Amino acid sequence: LGASGLSIDSHTILYGVIGDPVRHSRSPLMLNRAFQEKDINGIYAAFHVTAEGLGDFVRGVRAMGVGGVNVTIPHKLGVMEWLDEIDPAARAIGAVNTIVNRGGRLVGYNTDGIGYVRSLKEEAEPELSGKRIVVIGAGGAARGIVYALIGEGPASIAIVNRTADRAHSLADDFREKFPALQADSYDALPGLCSEADIVINTTSVGMYPNTEQSPVDAAWLKSGAVASDLIYNPMKTLFLTEAEARGCRIHGGLGMFIYQGAYAFEYWTGEDAPVAAMRETVLTSLQ
Ligand code: ATR
Repeated sequence: LGASGLSIDSHTILYGVIGDPVRHSRSPLMLNRAFQEKDINGIYAAFHVTAEGLGDFVRGVRAMGVGGVNVTIPHKLGVMEWLDEIDPAARAIGAVNTIVNRGGRLVGYNTDGIGYVRSLKEEAEPELSGKRIVVIGAGGAARGIVYALIGEGPASIAIVNRTADRAHSLADDFREKFPALQADSYDALPGLCSEADIVINTTSVGMYPNTEQSPVDAAWLKSGAVASDLIYNPMKTLFLTEAEARGCRIHGGLGMFIYQGAYAFEYWTGEDAPVAAMRETVLTSLQ
């Protein structure tokens, strides 16, 4: 086995991603490249698993000694009941996106939030401490991101959601850990954005094919603030295009995808992920 190509033998360890649907996933390309780059005898496949099949799938992982699994929509919540152990951060977030097989014991982690924060720090804003942050959206992705951002010591985090109740319930879940956590309705967005150092879109507003939509009017943003969008299709959403024209620094969603996979790779193999090669593979596949 080597960087020159893939060879499968009786020592090869299987990894994969489960989702429904899953055929659009770029994870197999990205993780197989990582295994090749680091000369690790592993291969990574995509498994289309339905909610009814989750329990059988997890038993199969244990029986076959599958090394690790990424979990995507809609199984991040449902898979938790089948695992042997849930990492405390994943438990607090309420979702698992990475399973690690430790000698037959299956442990669930969440690398979405830490993947996002690592990408934000490396690609847009190295210092998050003392920053005023606005998070738009209160779904599963927002939960992971808010949890990881709290660990960076920002001055404040305001969560704004179309359905304000969901923003309040997310804020209530984490307020003990971080008192400067605030929840509001969309009406508060212009005022909050005008004071924010970082504005993060975690909703699907602006995602292909609805690329003419943006969750924010760029006129609300401070010039020099960071505008960040979890969407990576398109790589530059209308929100980011307008924010850039307004003089903001922009940060797209591709980095979060790459770093959530990089953390999974590191948990599985104990080695540093070859991030540059992973990024190159995903970029090529998107062109
Ligand atoms: P994810 O795991 O990607 O976060 P989710 O849990 O379904 O997915 O959450 C989707 C988020 O996008 C929610 O915050 C949702 O707002 P609601 O809670 O009000 O549904 C938000 N969202 C989706 N479509 C939206 C739209 N057209 N306008 C505003 N917000 C939208």
